[in-house]
Amino acid sequence: MNFAHSYHALSPQIQRLWRTIRWIIPYRLRWFFEGCLQIPGQLWVADRKLLYKTIRRVKPKTVFEVGTWQGGGSTYFISQALYDNGFGVLHTIEADPQIHAIVRQNYQTYLPHLLKHVEFHSGKAMEVYPHLLRQLGCVDTVFLDGSADPQEAYGEFEMFAPFLHNGGVVLMHDWDNEKMALLRPALERSSQWRIQETITAPESVGFAVVRHVVVTDMPSSVEPLYSMHGPE
Ligand SMILES: C[S@@+](CC[C@H](N)C(=O)[O-])C[C@H]1O[C@@H](n2cnc3c(N)ncnc32)[C@H](O)[C@@H]1O
Repeated sequence: MNFAHSYHALSPQIQRLWRTIRWIIPYRLRWFFEGCLQIPGQLWVADRKLLYKTIRRVKPKTVFEVGTWQGGGSTYFISQALYDNGFGVLHTIEADPQIHAIVRQNYQTYLPHLLKHVEFHSGKAMEVYPHLLRQLGCVDTVFLDGSADPQEAYGEFEMFAPFLHNGGVVLMHDWDNEKMALLRPALERSSQWRIQETITAPESVGFAVVRHVVVTDMPSSVEPLYSMHGPE
């Protein structure tokens, strides 16, 4: 049993074994490992802890997520952190319409207390979110965990960046994978984004927290504040 991963990453047989012994472990210790037992979720324990603690610390009013999947991973830990903060709304999107329908049902059945902190959207992030972003005008925190295509991950970041104020935070899963082949080097050389924290193997397949920092000594005519491309 690998306690660095998660309950839903176990085989069905080991999950059964876990359910017989889980009671001897205090709830607070097993929560990040288990998530919500009835709703499958991805991300491992260290990723979930950093995601939850970042939302508790930043106290965002508006969070956007790409990649809900079944809702028991990142969506659950973000929306529970917003509930524990006492305010805030997560907008999350899933491209697969069948999975999207399951998620909404899952929350109505098992996590109704979180429904006022989460809005589920269906479709592709870059088709659905621009209209909503223009309506809201500002985003505090973003979590990227959608398509495996590096170009799409890069495009999603660029879509959110103009709406993230100074101090705005972006969290990303798969930081050490091919998915970040374009976005990671751009962020690493940017003067506008500071990499605050990362998690790497064996605790994670890569997770990063980056923060938008406004560079005051650079005329805005030279570089837009939301640009990822620092001076060459
Ligand atoms: C890695 S899973 C997300 C796991 C989830 N965050 C968790 O912690 O359990 C990626 C999900 O993103 C969805 N997806 C892929 N491309 C997308 C896009 N462009 N817009 C919205 N969702 C997308 C996939 O259908 C898939 O369900």
